Amino acid sequence: MSSGMWAEKYRPQSLDEMVNQTEIVSRLKRFVQERNLPHLLFVGPAGVGKTTSILALARDLYGPGYRNFIMELNASDERGIDIIREKVKFFARTAAIASEVSFKILIMDEADSLTTAAQHALRRTMEMYTRTCRFCLIGNYSENIIEPIQSRCSIFRFSPLSEEDIKSWIRTIASKENVRLLEEGVEAIYQASKGDMRKAINLLQAAAATRGGEVDDVVVYSVLGRVSPKRVREMIDLGLRGDFIEAREVLRSLLVDEGLAAEDILRMIYAEVLRLNIPERWKVRLSDAIGEVDYRLTQGSRPEIQLSALLAKLVLAGEEMGR
Ligand SMILES: Nc1ncnc2c1ncn2[C@@H]1O[C@H](COP(=O)(O)OP(=O)(O)OP(=O)(O)O)[C@@H](O)[C@H]1O
Ligand SMILES: [Mg+2]
Repeated sequence: MSSGMWAEKYRPQSLDEMVNQTEIVSRLKRFVQERNLPHLLFVGPAGVGKTTSILALARDLYGPGYRNFIMELNASDERGIDIIREKVKFFARTAAIASEVSFKILIMDEADSLTTAAQHALRRTMEMYTRTCRFCLIGNYSENIIEPIQSRCSIFRFSPLSEEDIKSWIRTIASKENVRLLEEGVEAIYQASKGDMRKAINLLQAAAATRGGEVDDVVVYSVLGRVSPKRVREMIDLGLRGDFIEAREVLRSLLVDEGLAAEDILRMIYAEVLRLNIPERWKVRLSDAIGEVDYRLTQGSRPEIQLSALLAKLVLAGEEMGR
């Protein structure tokens, strides 16, 4: 397992390496072939390849020395449009010397955070230097970009990555890093990532570091500081089936090994009990018992004893229901 950020280490270097975003990638590749580029506007959620694809495009276009031909600015870091204008002026004034491409690329992240007035100023700057500089504006929402800028750019809308994309890329990285990634781990990482590849990779790395390279759902949830719904379901099932000792073992591991807060475990028990396939009146009785434990926890009772008492109630409920 290597140190350093895996999200950086496995960031695609070329457009050909991008995971999915196929339509976007093929449009961008055409620009590379033509050695020409319009101004670009990339919008979409976090961690789906916006920054990655403009960097990859630049590398494909200019070759390994691409850093000399691009400038990255973060609109929300710069103090005011005047400073941005100065930087752009300085960068854009010279044509891309020593490259067969006649323009440079200015990448402006979080462009949608600029005020309307600043965007109007930016638009004038874009026009002034069009011959020597192409702008790639990046943001989360196109609605926050003024119409005159939108109409001067080719707009690319990035979507969250699919379940299959996230899962297979995570598996690839895990195998390269010698991480034993179990199926439940893949599932938990995907669920938490919601299509954000950066988040998925970071989660894999943090989880792998936690338990010496083995990643299952429990590790993932503990890295997230969340209770695994699956473990809680398992604990409730054990209780309802009358296996008090085993149910308590699961409880102990959640409290002690995972270091989870009793309140969080209780909240998850509540959610799972409501989902159980049991008669309504049992849900009422168990909810009542959960409410009681919730109150006692706020009064400073011992969490393990309170939650064990709740498991005991589950055992009794299971017996009465004849499970
Ligand atoms: N389509 C993709 N294919 C492969 N890796 C990806 C892809 N999208 C994101 N990643 C991974 O996630 C990391 C973050 O991606 P990137 O910087 O492109 O996100 P972004 O869309 O610019 O997000 P933000 O809005 O937060 O800046 C990359 O370093 C890369 O490892
Ligand atoms: Mg980015």
